[in-house]
Amino acid sequence: MRVTPPDPRCLDTGTQAALRAEFPLLRTGVYLSSNSTGAVPRGAEQVLRDYWETLRSWRDDVWQDWHVGLDRYADSLAALIGAPRGSVLTDANLSTFLARLASCFDYRPPRNRVLITDLEYPTVPFIFRAYRRYGAALDVVGTGGPRLDQDALEAKLDERTLLVCVPHASFSSGATVDLPRLVARAHQVGALVVVDAFQTVGVMPLDVTALGVDVVLGGAHKWLCGVGTAFLYVRPDLVPQLAPAATGWQAGDRALTFRPSSGWAPGVRRFAGGTPYPLTSLLSQVGLDLLAGVGVDAIRRHSLALTQRLLDRAEAAGIAVVSPADETRGGVVCLDVPDGEIVKQRLAARGVICSWRGYLRVGPHAYNTLDEVDTFMDALHEELHR
Ligand SMILES: Cc1ncc(COP(=O)(O)O)c(C=O)c1O
Repeated sequence: MRVTPPDPRCLDTGTQAALRAEFPLLRTGVYLSSNSTGAVPRGAEQVLRDYWETLRSWRDDVWQDWHVGLDRYADSLAALIGAPRGSVLTDANLSTFLARLASCFDYRPPRNRVLITDLEYPTVPFIFRAYRRYGAALDVVGTGGPRLDQDALEAKLDERTLLVCVPHASFSSGATVDLPRLVARAHQVGALVVVDAFQTVGVMPLDVTALGVDVVLGGAHKWLCGVGTAFLYVRPDLVPQLAPAATGWQAGDRALTFRPSSGWAPGVRRFAGGTPYPLTSLLSQVGLDLLAGVGVDAIRRHSLALTQRLLDRAEAAGIAVVSPADETRGGVVCLDVPDGEIVKQRLAARGVICSWRGYLRVGPHAYNTLDEVDTFMDALHEELHR
């Protein structure tokens, strides 16, 4: 049996053993792909059973319970990101929310510029390119490399900037953005800051209130150990100024009277669309509760220890690392190896799971151990030298 030297930043063995016992996926191999899809805890099985019971014995007033479940999940997310209760809403995916947010603006010059980076998940440029037809002046800032040139981004901020949209951590390199600095600079010129935090919420702390950030989007199926749901936070005092054109009846002030609304629902619900889908929030609550129980600061420390081990082993093996080596990295370490897609498949055949998006992406979470990281690096070494 391998005995990997401990790292004081790791979760204590009792906490971690209890956490690992909740995730059956971990018994199928070495699972280091939480940046792609997080493991789902076994408690989700009971949620599925209960859901079927609900459908089997259907009555319309089930909706009352479902709304309680939807609100509970949204408020748990709010607590995790330092947002007030009632300031977070869930829907099917991040793209839906971002497009709805983009529909709030009239893109009239002079303030019609949308600044994004070349590190965005592809949905971000795709959506804002579509808004060019309404006058959005899209400007993509980047180096073409795996890091953000934050100076270059901030140099573009001026009174013409309507929105600046950044990933908290890049999905392809794990490089993070210095949000306090960006928010301060953007607010000086009256621009709104939109953060895609899909790659950080659940593995890195984020306090939206302390940051004063305007909009944060994320989703459940990676670091939050959930399935099929995304979330939106909008700074509460900004909400009344935003009116989405892409909308639906649930966003109205009279939604539950089933008559046409004349105004917006109070609060973040004005960003709703049609009938919500409760199952994914109910399922995702289980993982969120487990992670919140461990605490996101402890998870971040553990993550830094495991990603440091990846970095050290990669350096020792002469494997090029794309992610930042310092603590500006997120939860993933990206390795530049030849024939990465094939290597990933060969590793998977050995029960060692990571993902590939131009680089080999290795994303250990709170439920992973240093031993698993070493097993991964041993297997990778063998595959690269076979
Ligand atoms: C940074 C980032 N944003 C967004 C998404 C997904 O967006 P959506 O929920 O619209 O599929 C992902 C990955 O799936 C991601 O890594």
